[in-house]
Formats: sequence, C-alpha cells, structure tokens
Amino acid sequence: MALPLDFLGTTYHKARLARKRLLHKLDIIICQKRKDLLSILISTPDDQGHLVTNEEIKDNVLTFLFGGYDTTSSTIAVVLKYLFLNPHCLQKVIKEQKKIAIEKVGDLLCWDDTRKMKYTWQVIQETMHIQPIVTWATREAIKENEYGGFTIPKGWKLAWSAPRSHLSPQFFPNPERFDPSRFEGIGPQPFTYLPFGSRPRMCPGSEFARTEMLVFLHHLVLNYEWSMIDPHEQMTMNPFHTFQKGLKLRIHKKDYSQVQ
Ligand code: HEM
Repeated sequence: MALPLDFLGTTYHKARLARKRLLHKLDIIICQKRKDLLSILISTPDDQGHLVTNEEIKDNVLTFLFGGYDTTSSTIAVVLKYLFLNPHCLQKVIKEQKKIAIEKVGDLLCWDDTRKMKYTWQVIQETMHIQPIVTWATREAIKENEYGGFTIPKGWKLAWSAPRSHLSPQFFPNPERFDPSRFEGIGPQPFTYLPFGSRPRMCPGSEFARTEMLVFLHHLVLNYEWSMIDPHEQMTMNPFHTFQKGLKLRIHKKDYSQVQ
C-alpha cells in the first residue's frame, strides 16, 4: 500500500522518517534478541531452509504495531459514537456487562467471560459493518480470471472493498441502519461481511482485537458515561477510517451505587 511519492514537508515524509527511526531501534533489539533463547523463534528456518532476514523481521514487527493499534482504537471510537447515538443499545450492553460483573464478585475478567458478551460483540460487529476501519486491501491474480464480463490478467493487482458488500441491500437489509440484531444466529452470508478480510491473508489479530475491545467496553460502560461534543463529526482516512477531530467526548465517572 506504500505510496511511491515522498515530498519534503508533508506528514507522509515525516512518517517515513519516523519509520526509519523505528527500524533503527528494531535493528538494535533484534541484534540483542538474536543472542538469547528467543532467537530460536526468529532463527527457525522455513520449508526451504531460509532464515527470516532482519528486513523481514522489522517489516513484520512494524506491520503488527501499525495494524494492531489504530485499528482497534478507531473501531472502539466508532462503537462509542453508535452507543451514544443509540441509547437503547447502550442500555442492553450495560445490562449484559453488569450481569457478568455481578457473577465475578470482584474476580478479574477472564477469557470465558468475553464469550458471554454476546450482545456487546453484536454491537461491535454492527459498528464494523456500517463503518469498517480497514475498507480495502490488495490481492494479486495468480491466474487469468473472468469477472463481470471483464478479463483480469494473471499478475494484475486487485483491491477488495468491504463497504461494497457491507452497504449492499442485497446482503444487508437497510444496510445503513444501526442494527446489532443482524448478527444474531448465524449472521450474514459467507464472504459478505469482511471487517477482518478473508481467507489466507485474513487479519491474524482478529481474536486479540475482539478480546481487547470487549474488555475495554466492559470497564467503560460499567464505570463511565460519555457524550459526543460534536455528534456530526465527519470521518476521514488516515490511513484507516477515523474521526476528523479525534472524536472529542465529555466523560464522567459513574456514581459507584449505579454500578451495583
Ligand atoms: C478492529 C481491529 C482490526 C481490524 C478491523 C483489522 C482488519 C484487518 C484487515 C481488513 C486486514 C487485511 C486482511 C486481508 O488482506 O484480507 C488486516 C491485516 C492484518 N492485521 Fe488486522 N485488524 C484489526 C486488529 C489487528 C490487531 C490487534 C493486530 C495485531 C495484534 C492486527 C494485525 C494484522 C496484521 C499483521 C495484518 C497483515 C496480515 C497479512 O498481510 O497476512 N490486526 N487486519
């Protein structure tokens, strides 16, 4: 996805310089790690006996940092917007989370608790349906294909687009209406709902992201109330879909008696 243009003074240019600095730091860490037990992990050869190069390790680490931070933070921000605009959904989320908190009687949340957060997960899924954070990714045609009357030659680059199917009434009735119930039961048809992509290059962080977002919302809805300062704030691409002004909220800590 990297742009081939790099103009002095632009944010993109600064980002490229920051990338260089990060890569330099990672070089130092990799050199240290190569000398300890963890080095076994990064020194394990592939099927052809090739070791992972420093370039590949650095690129992968940066992909994880980049792919693992903005995606979940932006998705959570959009969830907060939809919960604020749909108070009846927020009440159902609070009810579900309260039930879990009461059962825990002071214990820490664990993995099994997140499996009980069915409605909260439907809210997150519906948020990613209406406003997927990653709207497209690329593929390469490994053989010639015919599609929609067009020939796609082998080797051509293709981009799939999540909003194209997410906002299609053919697959999602009233596609732009915020309706978490569309994820009840078996949910949408295969390959129509793609917030994490699909097939071999599907997001490897999807389960981690699910857990992170559910745990965050658990603590947030039980302990805080929020309102949007500008409910009409527009979204922008940076490079993921996110709020133009960073979604400014007014947040209050809940009275403890309300949490019980
Ligand atoms: C709401 C959160 C997230 C969303 C919506 C999301 C979405 C996506 C999408 C759409 C792709 C491209 C898949 C494709 O090409 O088919 C992707 C790739 C990737 N994601 Fe995520 N992601 C999220 C969270 C994370 C997290 C938490 C991590 C890591 C901790 C992560 C790591 C990656 C990596 C490394 C790739 C590249 C995989 C590859 O090229 O094979 N993502 N993600």
